[in-house]
This record gives sequence, C-alpha cells and structure tokens, in this order.
Amino acid sequence: MNSMRILAIESSCDDTSVALVEGRGEYVQIIKEANASQIDAHKIFGGVIPEVAARKHVEAIIPLLSEVYDKNNRPDAIAATCGPGLITSILVGCETAKTISALENIPFISVNHIEGHIYANWILENQNEKSRIKSIQFPALALIVSGGHTELILLESHINYKKLGSTRDDAAGECFDKVAKLLGFDYPGGPKISMLAENGNENAVKLPRPMFNSDDYDFSFSGLKTAALYFINDNPATKIDKKKLADFCASFEQSIVDVLNKKCVQAAKKYSVKSVLLAGGVAANTKLRLELKNSILENTQALFYCPPIAYCMDNAGMIGTVAYFKARNNQFTNWKDIKADPQWEIG
Ligand code: KG4
Ligand code: ZN
Repeated sequence: MNSMRILAIESSCDDTSVALVEGRGEYVQIIKEANASQIDAHKIFGGVIPEVAARKHVEAIIPLLSEVYDKNNRPDAIAATCGPGLITSILVGCETAKTISALENIPFISVNHIEGHIYANWILENQNEKSRIKSIQFPALALIVSGGHTELILLESHINYKKLGSTRDDAAGECFDKVAKLLGFDYPGGPKISMLAENGNENAVKLPRPMFNSDDYDFSFSGLKTAALYFINDNPATKIDKKKLADFCASFEQSIVDVLNKKCVQAAKKYSVKSVLLAGGVAANTKLRLELKNSILENTQALFYCPPIAYCMDNAGMIGTVAYFKARNNQFTNWKDIKADPQWEIG
C-alpha cells in the first residue's frame, strides 16, 4: 500500500506543535515533530491567558515550521486543528496552514482537536506496537479527558463519530488544575496531584462522585471542586502536612477516576463496543490508565487502549494521524472553505 506524508499543525490552546507524519495501512509514524510549550508564560497567572497564548503561537510557529517542513520534500497534504479551543490560538495554526496550502497548492485537511486526541491511539511509536494498533476494532468507545474536555464518543468506523455525553461544567483536567491551584501548585497541577497521590490513602477523605448514578453519559466536576475547596479551607493542615496532603490528593484523584470508570464501563456495555480508547492529557494519569483498563477487561467484551504517554498531551502528531485517515477517504477541504470554529463539536 502506498504511503502518505502529512504536515500537521496544532495550536488550539497553549502548545504550538508542528509534525510531519507518514501513514501506511493502519499505521502512522511521526517522522519529525517540533514543539513549543507556553507553560512558563501562563504559570504566573495560574491558567492560560488567551491573548498571551496567541502571541506566543505567533512567535513560535515559523521557527517550528522551519524545523519540520522541507520544501524540497513536499507533503501530500497539510492539516491543522481548526477547533475547538481558544479562537485566537486556533487562528494562528489554522491560518498558517491555509496559507501554505494556498501558496504551495497542497491539499488541506481540517482536523477537530478532540478527534486528534482520539487518534493518538493510532500513532505507532515503535515497531513493537503494531499488534496493539492492528487489534483496534470498531465499534469503539473513546473517553477523552483533557484540560478542556471530558467526552464519551462512539466510533462506528474510522472518522465516524457519535457523541454520547460530555461534562456539564468543568472538564476533568480543569478540575485537577483548579484543585491543584487551591493547594498552591503551579499550572497545570494535574501531574503534581497524581504524583503526590501515589503515597496517599484514597479512602482517607470522603469526597463526592458527581453524577455517579445518573443514567446518562454526562459528567459534572464543579461540585467535586467545591467540596475540595471546603475541605481544604476546613482542614488547612492539608496544605502543609505531607501525609495529609498525599491522602487528600489520593482521595481526590480516586473520585475522578471512579466517575470516569463507571460511565465508561456503562457506555461500553450498552453499545457492545469492541475497543475502548482513552485519550487526552488526563490519559497520562497512571491510576486512570490502570483502573480503567482493569474495569474494561473485567466487565466488558472490549479491549482497552491508551496512547503512548508522550502523545496524550496536545501535539501535532495526533492531528497528522487523523488527517492521514481523512486523506484515505478523500476528506480534503479547499482552504477557502475553512473557518476556525472554537465551538466545533464532533458527532
Ligand atoms: O490534552 P491536554 O494537553 O490539553 C487540553 O486539550 O486541555 O491536557 C492537559 C490537561 C491538564 O489539565 C493537565 O493537568 C492534565 O491534562 N494532566 C493530568 C496528568 N497529566 C496531564 N491530570 C492528571 N494526572 C496526570 N498525570
Ligand atoms: Zn487537548
């Protein structure tokens, strides 16, 4: 089967990323990827400031492209994240890709950030992973958990989505980050909480599991955040006592994992899926990866997949991977018809 090379750009939030990927059959490999993180710029504000993010993308995009894009080795297509996310951030990557498409006459592929996270599961990081990727079967259920999204999406086949549910308020990653901020940690605090949780007792602090018993596939995390706020205010030693801090982090992490687990198993059973795909930044969380894998294998007929850790967070490799599968279906769009859409939903 012929291979296809895609140049991809991701800039929907606070990471600028450019990648060149090569797809062949069911496998996509990252040939080259260059990234610029903005964490240091946003840390002092405790979250992402859209105006700052956009300026940083503008500074980073041309140097990153120069590292990855070889004009003498023309890609078969160019792809960019065109939504959802921060509009001023998306515009930088999307308009840059459109410009290259127009000037170099390279076909354009518009990619949704959420489908990007899902397709990180198809990235072949090394040759040993071929059997993992080959075994992914449809229907598949994707649980996307990131700083901006918590969604359950059903895939009947490649690039064919049906949204089953999503968060009604905060995303799981957002909840991790906001509670981390209450504890005095820098943005993004999710990884810090999960690291501290490793030495804690997950049953030490009683915290709510919002919407645990609801009959749908929606989530809500703002109540958990508020409960965490009250607990920390009522128990100020949580912030300074090592053991108390570890216990709180473990209990908080467990609440999130339990809710995600319950809803995901419920949906996997209902739709008799053959695969469950974890995705998004929070998919880097070790406890979630392990507990969800066990629950899926024990309670459903599905196999469980999660992307290589390096591709859980925002990256252009995952955008190129979606674009490869779209290119196989001839899903190109003329750059003139593309408009960045901060609210773009799939399914
Ligand atoms: O997918 P991503 O890079 O950006 C968005 O699209 O939002 O996800 C970033 C989110 C942040 O909220 C971060 O705290 C969270 O992923 N995260 C984690 C872990 N690693 C990253 N949350 C919990 N445990 C982790 N190990
Ligand atoms: Zn993301």
